[in-house]
Amino acid sequence: MKKPSQTNFYRDKKVLIDIKDLDYCFDDLQVLKNINLKIFEKEFLSIVGPSGCGKTTLLKIMAGLIDSKSGNVERNIFDIAYMPQKGALFEWKTLISNLALPLIVKGEEKKQAYQKARNFLEDFNLEKFENYYPSQLSGGMKQRGAFLRTMITGSELILLDEPFASVDEINRRKLQLWLIELLRRYSKTVVLVTHDIEEAILLSDRIVIMSDKPSKIIETINVDIPKPRSLESLTDPRFSTLEKKIYELLGSSF
Ligand SMILES: Nc1ncnc2c1ncn2[C@@H]1O[C@H](COP(=O)(O)OP(=O)(O)O)[C@@H](O)[C@H]1O
Ligand SMILES: [Mg+2]
Repeated sequence: MKKPSQTNFYRDKKVLIDIKDLDYCFDDLQVLKNINLKIFEKEFLSIVGPSGCGKTTLLKIMAGLIDSKSGNVERNIFDIAYMPQKGALFEWKTLISNLALPLIVKGEEKKQAYQKARNFLEDFNLEKFENYYPSQLSGGMKQRGAFLRTMITGSELILLDEPFASVDEINRRKLQLWLIELLRRYSKTVVLVTHDIEEAILLSDRIVIMSDKPSKIIETINVDIPKPRSLESLTDPRFSTLEKKIYELLGSSF
């Protein structure tokens, strides 16, 4: 049987965000140049590129936190969750207060918001820590908490900016496998910014490779490794082929 091409595969899927001919400058500094990118419903898309190339900027544009003056960003989705690169949890609030906050902001009753947050704790392996402050949690727990806070409002589209960057290698792998499992249960559309090529391949359906500033999309790669992925996916021969290809595309700028 003929393998479906990317265009066929995505043809019937809803486009949640459609970015056309986008340029972005900070004063005289041109960061993004001629970006064309569609985010499809239920896909997991990663964005990789050299440090300072504009990945965070692009994610903020998707979230609607900053506006582009040239090009067009069409959003066919109202509710977008965004997890920033740093400081996602408030240090002066307990974990459970951090988690209930977005629900309260959205208009839920306080008691109900706390209960709803509590119901998620087990799935996120945080059930014993609801009254802990972020400084009392390990790096991995903090990231799970921050991630839960991003997901808790039920947004269908989740934008993650290097969520595991500050976690050590072993815990990062654990978090990646946990995220795979979690997304099986809560089906979502995810856009992930990462500088970890292995992470991008392990988690994604598609990977966008960006160049140095002014950044263009060099290529968008389909990850044809079967899902659900696991540690075994790392030894799939397609994994190393993709990894090599991505490093070659990124070249010396990475
Ligand atoms: N608010 C800002 N004002 C001016 N320059 C900025 C601002 N934010 C980011 N930049 C610059 O824009 C470029 C892209 O930044 P960023 O999107 O954070 O890159 P990345 O996330 O890929 O590391 C960098 O050179 C950075 O210094
Ligand atoms: Mg960044």
